[in-house]
Amino acid sequence: MADKSSRGLADIVAATTSISDIDGEEGRLFYRGYDIQDIGGRISFEECVHLLQRGTLPTRQELDALTEELMAAQHIGPTTEALLPHVTSGGTPMEALRTLVSSLSADDPDVGDSSIEADRRKATRLVAQMPILVARYEAARQGRQAPQIDPELSIAGNFLLQIGGERPSERAAEIFDACLVLHADHTMNASTFTARVIAATLSDIHSAITGAMGALRGPLHGGANEAVMNTLSSIEGDVDAVDEFVRAELEAGRKLMGFGHRVYKTEDPRATFLRKMSEELAELTGNRRYYEFSRRMEQVVFDAKGLYPNVDFYAASVYHALGIPTDLFTPVFAISRMSGWTAHVIEQHEDNRLIRPASEYTGPTDQRWVEISER
Ligand code: ACO
Repeated sequence: MADKSSRGLADIVAATTSISDIDGEEGRLFYRGYDIQDIGGRISFEECVHLLQRGTLPTRQELDALTEELMAAQHIGPTTEALLPHVTSGGTPMEALRTLVSSLSADDPDVGDSSIEADRRKATRLVAQMPILVARYEAARQGRQAPQIDPELSIAGNFLLQIGGERPSERAAEIFDACLVLHADHTMNASTFTARVIAATLSDIHSAITGAMGALRGPLHGGANEAVMNTLSSIEGDVDAVDEFVRAELEAGRKLMGFGHRVYKTEDPRATFLRKMSEELAELTGNRRYYEFSRRMEQVVFDAKGLYPNVDFYAASVYHALGIPTDLFTPVFAISRMSGWTAHVIEQHEDNRLIRPASEYTGPTDQRWVEISER
């Protein structure tokens, strides 16, 4: 029998990294040594991209240069453009976006160049292109044009503009910007590990990111934020209905989406931020329903199972209040996590060794071949 502790590679150190770190006992998350409690809500997503991809918090000059690079890369090439109408008619947004992300390599000016310098340029472009892809996908399926990028707005502000069709309030853009920072990296999570495994074969960054998109989509990982919103909106009646809903789900042996975590043994520090944002947006919009349902669910699940909410739980009511369609919640996660994924691919390529774990065979032994007519 395999050692139970290695199931799901729990507690196995699969790589060394200087990008992010988690203290699961204390509920702390660090990006390049900076505590998320310290930088959350204080740095912009653009600064976070610099921190993760380039290793330092940028100076004003470095930030201006990166912002300019990102702004210049906020467009998609003819190959992806041609694919758009084909992928919007069926399937889910994550399926479409997985295909669209893959297609970006075809028009990338550095296609075929596997140097680290080319990786860095492609990484910046991928961060700039991901929100455009999601906005263009949303516009295409609604049969409308996405609004032009506003050079005065951040990546976060422009995304809300493109999805909602009007300039977001300053506070809405700030809150969404902080969400992007909170989701940007998280050590060896499933999608980042996927990206690193692909990169470690010396495959290209677009292949690694396409694989990561596939891993993120699942409901045990990034797909949970969409599942949380579907759960919240399926509960009819007032907040007291939450108790019965949770009881019935647990009795049926089903997991509550947005709860539990492989690494955190206490509250996920990102959930602490997102809970506050959810409350603030409930005040600002005058619609407290999903915030209050979430608060109640958090209490009932903790009392019943001792489980804490993870990053996906309050992200659901926050994104909903920001006017983001529910099936774009996981794509929004990908917009943010692109910064972490690409940083990890670069780090893997900088000091590579093929990732090839062992397995323990549990099938039959001593089998003998027999003629097909005798089987
Ligand atoms: N609801 C109910 N019970 C749960 C939940 C949950 N959300 N999470 C864990 N448990 C229970 C399991 O049933 C199991 O109980 P048992 O030992 O009696 O069988 C125990 O807690 C351990 O759970 P595992 O699934 O083995 O823990 P693991 O570390 O493998 O999984 C995971 C972690 C996948 C996050 C899990 O907690 C889960 O499925 N949560 C719901 C999905 C979710 O929210 N995913 C997003 C995670 S954050 C992110 O990826 C961005």
